[in-house]
Amino acid sequence: MDTDPLRQRLEDLRREIHYHNHRYHVLDAPVISDAEFDRLVVELGQIESTHPDWVTPDSPSQRAGAQPSEKFEKVRHPRPILSLANAFGADDARAWFERIRKLDDRVERAQFVVEPKIDGLSVLLHYRDGVFVQGATRGDGEVGEDITANLRTIKAIPLRIPLLAVDDGRSTMDHAGQLALFRGPQPPSASHRLPSHLAVRGEVYIPIRDFEQLNRRLEENGEKTYLNPRNTAAGSLRQLDPAITATRPLTLLVYQVVHAEGGEVPSSQWELLEWLKALGFPVTDIARRFDSLEEAIAYSATWDEGRDRLPYEADGMVIKLDDLRLAADLGFVGKDPRGATAFKFPAREVTTRLNAIGVAVGRTGVLTPYAVLQPVEIGGVVVERATLHNFDYIAEKDIREGDRVLVKRAGEVIPYVIGPVTEVRSGAELPYQPPQTCPACGQGVEHFEGEVAWYCVNAACPAQLVRNVEHFVSKGAMDINGLGIRIVEQLITAGLVRDVADLYTLTRDQLLGLEGFADRKADNLLGGISESANQPLQRLIAALGIHGVGEVSAADLSRQFPSLDLLAAASEEQLQMVEGIGPNIAAAIVDWFGRERNRKVLEKLKTAGVWPIASPSTVSGPSSGSLSGLTFVVTGALPTLSREGVKEFIESHGGKVTDSVSKKTSYLVLGEAPGSKYDKAQALGVKVIGEEELRKMCRS
Ligand code: IVH
Repeated sequence: MDTDPLRQRLEDLRREIHYHNHRYHVLDAPVISDAEFDRLVVELGQIESTHPDWVTPDSPSQRAGAQPSEKFEKVRHPRPILSLANAFGADDARAWFERIRKLDDRVERAQFVVEPKIDGLSVLLHYRDGVFVQGATRGDGEVGEDITANLRTIKAIPLRIPLLAVDDGRSTMDHAGQLALFRGPQPPSASHRLPSHLAVRGEVYIPIRDFEQLNRRLEENGEKTYLNPRNTAAGSLRQLDPAITATRPLTLLVYQVVHAEGGEVPSSQWELLEWLKALGFPVTDIARRFDSLEEAIAYSATWDEGRDRLPYEADGMVIKLDDLRLAADLGFVGKDPRGATAFKFPAREVTTRLNAIGVAVGRTGVLTPYAVLQPVEIGGVVVERATLHNFDYIAEKDIREGDRVLVKRAGEVIPYVIGPVTEVRSGAELPYQPPQTCPACGQGVEHFEGEVAWYCVNAACPAQLVRNVEHFVSKGAMDINGLGIRIVEQLITAGLVRDVADLYTLTRDQLLGLEGFADRKADNLLGGISESANQPLQRLIAALGIHGVGEVSAADLSRQFPSLDLLAAASEEQLQMVEGIGPNIAAAIVDWFGRERNRKVLEKLKTAGVWPIASPSTVSGPSSGSLSGLTFVVTGALPTLSREGVKEFIESHGGKVTDSVSKKTSYLVLGEAPGSKYDKAQALGVKVIGEEELRKMCRS
């Protein structure tokens, strides 16, 4: 036992950080606020920087600490990493069962475990004496690549197992100021001594929502978007610089022990999953165990129907014999173990005609091509449009109008064109030429060094203005009630709105002159506009639509620069001192405030009284509040707050928002047309409230 109090504190901090990391990234049930968590990390960093010799590879500080490498070293796996044979439908699965039943009588009475087959990347994680020491790709199954530094950046991967739990997750200080840590319930490993060398296999992936968000951000910044979550995950894991991997929303689920030495592991797949979970690994929560193959098939089929509800891309379910000894005895055929089969979902890829290539103009002027398709059904949904990513992609794949194209729809990801079927070309299809002029305003388009996108740089382009105003009034920004896209278009076409500031000088008479406007509608809209003038500064900053400045950076900026005058006067160096503001965004901010046209808009906003000053409480950050320590999940559409809005609301009062309901969820905030989260909350007895009650909780 170390008696040095500082060293003891260091150990306590590490244990606590590991614990909260696990609660956040694996269990999706955090118990402290981000600000509290950040304080622990800062303190750890302070101790480690004064005692560099105390830094160990399993310290949370080492998640993104490695230097970029030249290339990946090869690692030989302790045992071949197997693949899986496919079953396409129930009959194939029954045929698999018949085959193995003939080989061993025990199969007759076997139980089955069904798990999702995630479309990600198989990795092997090695733990020695409970510490994560090496991670590798599957490679050819015998030899993989050493990607330890990259895997370390994935917060869902425990750096040390078993994870020690702190009583209820809240650190408690006794009178001497010592942190008191409690051991949580021990994993059900009492009967399974942790192997001194344990190699665990799992699948690394990017959740669909994070993938979409990443692509939206890249598109807004004129950067290349990614094709699909799997390729993005693969590319991110094979980055030579772990700092880049760390910026990608990677996570994983584990499902197999490939090697165990000097200890014991459960011999039932079901118990193995439980055991891995208790050690601190992320494990799927939709696995089930069945007494018969028919039940296993029926369950797999329900997920074929429900695959859009999964937060990741899955290409099937895996049906495994629960008895791992029996499975091992059955051996394998080539690279496929006999003890499991993949129950594949039908592929969601079809071919259809590409009728035309359309071009949309975004808020920042980015031109984005999209496919106008001959409508086609893919997995129960009629698809008419698909993304074409960018003009480079069209050129690389030589996609032409009139082509027959292969289209994929996976999960909730926007369908995309994989490529043309060149064999069936008639000869009339011509290579595609990107537009030389903006399809909305007809002015020339430009390309910036280092970006893939083409831009319409005409500040008066009506298509951009529509998107700009639409963004300005959206729920996450100024949140103006009753101002939908149709009305925005109407106001712009009538010449009443030439920039966002014009909204604040609209008169009742002007509105009454528009089609569809009667007294009430005009008054409601004017009321909504004037109310929005009181939105906090961070909303206004986000509403301006500066390249790369979203809600999170806007909040960070408003803390540092409590008025637009101060923000406008900030230098790139000063801006870069704000968390999350890198050189590109800093340059974009300075550029935005330097433009004559934007300065005029700001002047007009100031004259109209839309000039919020951040209050001291926002300036010091929302570290505590009436929702502090509470965790919320939101489902359905709320009466007034958007998805982003409600998140911001809860966080600004010190609460936390997570994606999935668990026993640790404090409240489910329920709106119209809720999803399956509502059923889960009811099943777990989680309290359900509406937006109004949520607001009441914050009024004191
Ligand atoms: S079991 C002996 N379980 O699917 C164990 N594989 O097409 C064989 N995969 O290479 C693998 N989720 O990368 C298993 N729950 C799961 C899986 C899974 C995804 C991947 C794995 C495998 C591929 C086979």
